[in-house]
Amino acid sequence: MTDVQELLLSRIRDVADYPEPGVMFKDITPLLADPVAFTALTGALADIAERTGATKVVGLEARGFILGSPVAVRAGLGFIPVRKAGKLPGATLRQAYDLEYGSAEIEVHAEDLTGGDRVLVVDDVLATGGTAEASVQLIRRAGAEVAGLAVLMELGFLGGRGRLEPTLGEAPLEAL
Ligand code: PRP
Repeated sequence: MTDVQELLLSRIRDVADYPEPGVMFKDITPLLADPVAFTALTGALADIAERTGATKVVGLEARGFILGSPVAVRAGLGFIPVRKAGKLPGATLRQAYDLEYGSAEIEVHAEDLTGGDRVLVVDDVLATGGTAEASVQLIRRAGAEVAGLAVLMELGFLGGRGRLEPTLGEAPLEAL
């Protein structure tokens, strides 16, 4: 493990039985509150944006907004929010995805992504991969290309990488 990985890991707090019994929640607020760790994280994510040749950064609601915005600024790129359905005022594209019980929908403003764009998707956690997979579908439906998916952490036991890799194809999935 690198020094940066050790720093980031040390600032993630495990919260037992949240939001429901049996779940170990990964709380990133201690990391966000530490300027050294937060700067290291956004720097590492901005490096991925540059390495993948991204032209835009998409952040996934809600923690992907906190991480993706400074990454976009550091990499000199525009930031685009992918939101839970019903939150964006303009014309949107909408994508449904399955949850453990039921389904959910995410949206993006259609005019924010175009044919020439290469998009880096940023989020805090890759769990089952459902949210990230739906965001990849949304970006491609808008006509843009997915440059990669960058997350702070991956919960490997939930199988998100295996679900996403066929969808991502050549685009890398990087978990810090
Ligand atoms: C969490 C997390 C990811 C997603 C990962 O967000 O921030 O976006 O779940 O789960 P998945 O890989 O199984 O799809 P959540 O839906 O809790 O939204 P929030 O950040 O708005 O609370």
